[in-house]
Amino acid sequence: MSSRSLPELAPEQRRILVVNAKGGCGKTTLTTNLAALYASMEVETALVDHDPQGSASQWLKARDESLPAIQGIAPWKHTGDASTTRSFQMRLAFEAHRVVIDTPAALAASDFRRWLGEADRIVIPVLPSAIDIKAGARFIGDLLLNRHYRNKPVPLAVVANRARRNTLVFEKLERFLISLRIPFVATFRDLQGYVRAAESGEGLFELTRGVDDQEWESFEQLIHWIEATPGAHGVA
Ligand SMILES: Nc1ncnc2c1ncn2[C@@H]1O[C@H](COP(=O)(O)OP(=O)(O)O)[C@@H](O)[C@H]1O
Ligand SMILES: [Mg+2]
Repeated sequence: MSSRSLPELAPEQRRILVVNAKGGCGKTTLTTNLAALYASMEVETALVDHDPQGSASQWLKARDESLPAIQGIAPWKHTGDASTTRSFQMRLAFEAHRVVIDTPAALAASDFRRWLGEADRIVIPVLPSAIDIKAGARFIGDLLLNRHYRNKPVPLAVVANRARRNTLVFEKLERFLISLRIPFVATFRDLQGYVRAAESGEGLFELTRGVDDQEWESFEQLIHWIEATPGAHGVA
């Protein structure tokens, strides 16, 4: 793994739900990179793929055995008679020290409620387009009003994804987040390496010269936020 340092991990388990009803904003990219990072830190890591499109599962399938192992589970693969297998696999995955959960863009209310109940942290990636920012803000607004979220609020953060040099477009989103006291924890750039890493079952930092200091810092900031004690950051 990289010689760069990452924060100390909290002793408690963390289940990180990566979610946003907008497709293509980077949920799978973020999920797989987080899973690879945690696995590289030698903690038992699981990746739960709730998206029937299975992109995260395909990524894991392509992952070389020589790389730090990640336990994968795609609950939708086990239907009917296989439901016992599903609950068994889910239980195993959910016992991992770090569980990263990928979700589809189309969120059925009943599924979403269950996933919310299972999460310790929620991370929402947003792309730097006016349409994506509007959709992201609406998603966050709905989430904060969601009865199930309000019953069990967990720390929620936004990350910017595929940012280019001019990130002025995020200013509006930033103001909106500040008004809700939701942290904007990291900005990931638009890098070809993410596309390559998606194909090869790697994290960006596992590619040769895949990650530079700036991008690494963004991962550090995100991990810091995930690992922080609840209450250290605004829970809306
Ligand atoms: N930071 C990034 N830089 C370059 N390409 C990216 C980045 N994030 C995502 N992508 C690419 O954008 C597409 C959509 O990303 P993905 O993670 O699949 O989104 P989602 O899971 O939200 O639908 C994929 O082809 C992915 O490789
Ligand atoms: Mg996806």
